[in-house]
Amino acid sequence: MDSSEWPEPVVPVQSLSESGLTEIPARYVKPPSDRPGAVSFLDGPEQGLKIPVIDLGGLVGDSGERQATVQAISDACKEWGFFQVVNHGVSLDLAGRMKKVWMEFFHLPMEEKKAYANNPKTYEGYGSRLGVEKDAILDWTDYFFFYLHPDSQKNLDKWPLRPETLRGTAEEYGRELVKLGGVLMKVLSIGLGLDEGYLQKAFGGGDMEASMRVCLYPKCPQPELTLGLSPHSDPGGLTILLADDRVKGLQVRKGGAWVPVQPAPGAFIVNVGDQIQVISNSVYPSVEHRVIANSAEERLSLAFFYNPKGDLPIGPAPELVTPHHPPLYPTIKYREYRLHVRNWGLHGKLAVESLKAV
Ligand code: OGA
Ligand code: NI
Repeated sequence: MDSSEWPEPVVPVQSLSESGLTEIPARYVKPPSDRPGAVSFLDGPEQGLKIPVIDLGGLVGDSGERQATVQAISDACKEWGFFQVVNHGVSLDLAGRMKKVWMEFFHLPMEEKKAYANNPKTYEGYGSRLGVEKDAILDWTDYFFFYLHPDSQKNLDKWPLRPETLRGTAEEYGRELVKLGGVLMKVLSIGLGLDEGYLQKAFGGGDMEASMRVCLYPKCPQPELTLGLSPHSDPGGLTILLADDRVKGLQVRKGGAWVPVQPAPGAFIVNVGDQIQVISNSVYPSVEHRVIANSAEERLSLAFFYNPKGDLPIGPAPELVTPHHPPLYPTIKYREYRLHVRNWGLHGKLAVESLKAV
């Protein structure tokens, strides 16, 4: 297939939502077993649990506080693959401005947004589909995807021109999140018992790659039949999510349950991606998550991806491989891995688990 084109014309979900239809098109209707209410174990013992909220202020405290903070993050990575951070050093004013400029973008006239329509080769720009499988059942979401780091990957001319403050705000946000990501890489390295610079080095040092997907989940007339985003683990390194704190929707898989995430005020939601699962030889697994659609309000979330440089081979850290813990994954370049994921679309943890067979 020609990877520079989508298999079918792309219909922005926002235009469907705004057309006032009362039933969603068949393309969005999930089979009964994939619908939000389908899981019979929804009221299992995991219900009511919450992902840990961790105060990063502890990292600049005395050595006891630092250790406790690293331990709390390490425990969260093992148990949940997810945690929230507060006191993270990123200006809340900047986070607020970032949400605002993107909400403004999504409320520009459709013609203006369509000028940024993306293709499956790079995904950069305005889009709705993930994956190029023809006749796939689609998710109830639109997004804008772009690269933030390094400068050589950043195509400013693909970023929206309006609102006028968007480019400057997104660049500032990118710089702050690259910093926060660097801090978390150290914490995770120490938590794994590795050199504090291990993960950063494995990701290519200052040449690591950062990108963002700004997700819009328009109002959906039949949220019980579809999903905002299908279950998936994130293919890259770390994801740092700025979620809508008014409109819920994100759920994290825990044992047999889907646990809703309620963002703490001013928090980022952090999760481990497939590359850290591979490097950690599954000590820190990437965990499936999904987004529920809703009929009352649209939802905006900003996912920042802290990823390895594309042409670096990524495999289990030799320090974590022992006779009792043989390597679970082969070594493969992130760019090649991402290509598989992009062609397949979102299918739970199939992509990373299929590596085992390589
Ligand atoms: C993602 C993602 C969650 C959300 O973009 O990978 O999981 O709340 N987003 O939008
Ligand atoms: Ni995700």
